[in-house]
Amino acid sequence: MEQRILIKNIKELAFIQDESDNRTRLSGAEMNECKTIENAWLAVEGDLIAGFGSMEDWEGISDWTNLKIIDARGKIVLPAFCDSHSHIVYAGNREGEWVGRLNGMTYEEIANNGGGIINSALKLREASEDELYAQALTRAKEVISTGTGALEIKSGYGLSLESELKMLRVIKRLKENTDLSIKSTLLAAHAVPPEYKDDKLGYIDLIINDIIPKVATEKLADYIDVFCEKGYFDNDDTRRILKAGMEHGLTPKFHVNQFTISGGIQIGIEEKALSVDHLEVLANEEITALKSVSTIATLLPSCSFFLEIPYSPARKMIDQGLPVALATDFNPGSTPSGNMPFVMSLACIKMKMKPNEAFNASYRNGAYAMDLADTHGSIAVGKKANLIITKEVPSYSYIPYSFGSNHIESVILNGKVQG
Ligand code: NIG
Ligand code: FE
Repeated sequence: MEQRILIKNIKELAFIQDESDNRTRLSGAEMNECKTIENAWLAVEGDLIAGFGSMEDWEGISDWTNLKIIDARGKIVLPAFCDSHSHIVYAGNREGEWVGRLNGMTYEEIANNGGGIINSALKLREASEDELYAQALTRAKEVISTGTGALEIKSGYGLSLESELKMLRVIKRLKENTDLSIKSTLLAAHAVPPEYKDDKLGYIDLIINDIIPKVATEKLADYIDVFCEKGYFDNDDTRRILKAGMEHGLTPKFHVNQFTISGGIQIGIEEKALSVDHLEVLANEEITALKSVSTIATLLPSCSFFLEIPYSPARKMIDQGLPVALATDFNPGSTPSGNMPFVMSLACIKMKMKPNEAFNASYRNGAYAMDLADTHGSIAVGKKANLIITKEVPSYSYIPYSFGSNHIESVILNGKVQG
């Protein structure tokens, strides 16, 4: 018998998507929308939302057996977050580099001295798949506790066939053993590994001829990513690698404009990338170019916070009619945090997004950025029962407002109460 859950007396059920609303993402002014029901009930059957409505129209579901009832008096029920950009599979941490930055070194200098991504790659190559899985599982549980229900996870700290496969197998195990909805991304082109230091093209050949075909054959990834950035992979490299991925059924979704404007966004648009991510620096022409295209801009404000680099011009983008998604970028170098409520606080405080915009960027637009728009990111009958029950809070806007505190009481993923 399928588990059934009834959440009743909900103070406010928020971010409801009407049956007639078939938008796959919200753009510009639409991002400020939020439909709610006060004094509501919501029913879960198996892993899906089975129904919801006002307590006033409540007729009861006495015929339901195997029913768990949750009284949410004073509490708000929301969709779980859709974090469309993370690197949670990594070995160890890099707090030493962070202290180096506090002492005046830059992220770039650290990377040029063999730190950064290469530091994480050397650590990861030493770790067994089981060790790596155990560390990643701890991080997965942590992000669940802060309300994340769908998560994209990248490889990119292996930088060899064997170690990239090891990372992707860990992602597969997380998919099988947690209630998170997970999408997997091949990011072999994250940095040039030490053994190819003077032969970047040789490494790109390895990616194109060996890594991509093997990953595709083993069905270990949904997306192909490249760190398109000065000192990493240039525009020609990026286009070649994305195209090779596409030939093997992987959709492009990639890092661009973190430190420099390269023209890579145009490549993303031309190649119909699902998302272009980072965009801490962004030219006005690029904002214009991103209007009315299928590629969505994914912004990562906790990376700006941690590296003290500019924040993406989200206000300008939304005011010009663009859809934007928000994600954490959880990784050991630029964002050692997977906390979506904190991302929303930064989005509001530093990028001047309104609370509804920050939620929609973390819900429907985050779902869009992982091809999950039909099943995740809002309250709708038939959508995945991925839900947050808050503590007693005055409003949902209180969550990004009262930053740094945990306002989540429980999280339901895949129709199951987590914890
Ligand atoms: O998204 N920018 C590239 N990759 C990661 C950081 C990698 C690292 O420092 O380990 C990012 O910020
Ligand atoms: Fe990233």
